[in-house]
Amino acid sequence: MNSYRIAVVGATGAVGQEILRTLERRNFPVSLLKPLASSRSVGKSVEFNGAKVQIEELRASAFEGIDFALFSAGATRSREYAEACKKAGAVMIDNSSAFRMKDDVPLVVPEINPGDLKKHHGIISVPNCSAIILGVPLWPLHQAAGIERIIVSTYQSASGAGAQAMAELESQARAHATGQPIKREIFPHQIAFNVFSHNTAIAENGYNEEENKVIEETRKIFHEPNLPIVATCIRVPVLRAHSESIVIETKRDLSPEEAREILSKAPGVKVVDSREKNHFPMPLEASGQHDVLVGRIRRDLSHPRGLALFVSGDQLLKGAAWNAVQIMEYLVGKS
Ligand code: A2P
Repeated sequence: MNSYRIAVVGATGAVGQEILRTLERRNFPVSLLKPLASSRSVGKSVEFNGAKVQIEELRASAFEGIDFALFSAGATRSREYAEACKKAGAVMIDNSSAFRMKDDVPLVVPEINPGDLKKHHGIISVPNCSAIILGVPLWPLHQAAGIERIIVSTYQSASGAGAQAMAELESQARAHATGQPIKREIFPHQIAFNVFSHNTAIAENGYNEEENKVIEETRKIFHEPNLPIVATCIRVPVLRAHSESIVIETKRDLSPEEAREILSKAPGVKVVDSREKNHFPMPLEASGQHDVLVGRIRRDLSHPRGLALFVSGDQLLKGAAWNAVQIMEYLVGKS
């Protein structure tokens, strides 16, 4: 079997760390692992397959001899080093938003549009985490009944804002419990014991950047440029999995029973829908799983062909690291 030289850009971050764990878990054939981060991390190391690997500073020369470069260090770094990757002949798999909406960059969720991978020119984008967690369960329903409209409200965890944001939630909870003053550094508002509109800027159309990403990226992944979608993105004090309340309107009637049947066979999805036990998707149970949990499957009583769902998916795994490694597995023919 071939094995590959892999650079992980942002290897110390929340997603970077999950990429390392996912490569290990999947037994991905790695002949060289190069963890890259900022100058702040030089001298530190990461664990990989039982060994300590020294972190190197991110610079253009780091990509020489690399087959795949997985980027999770923010859009600025992705833009800055895309050319260096290309020159070195490394395929860039980018978790940032830098290139997602470019026509010549495939935006791929392997359960939905793996065929788009064939058209890459050296850069492949991993979609926004909320768009992935929305798309995975909706795609098989779209194929079965034709989705005509999506209404989605997200309940997004701290992990989407990185490792320091997760630490901020924990430290605010600790401060609250011990009567200490609550400090804010990463989020604009207190995250512990609070809920607030997503911390991205509001665009001209009144939607924040996260909502616009969910709308535009879902359309691109589904190859449905005009699909009507309304999104409301909210931060909640959860550490690492995003949840979403979803309502869809379909072309043909789709009963909850049929939807449950379709979802129970769909790749990347696990139905958690026990009305008797009142047990439905929860971020704590979605954490650490590759699958998106789906439940609360019921009719939208306000629309003749409406269906309501609730989903939870691990933002760091399916929403980022696992989707990126899965793309690499497709490219090397491992999946
Ligand atoms: P570092 O730990 O050296 O700052 P998160 O999304 O969890 O906040 O992680 C961000 C990741 O991006 C970290 O690995 C961080 O490395 C890396 N990073 C941030 N700024 C830079 C930079 N200027 N150059 C290279 N890596 C960076």
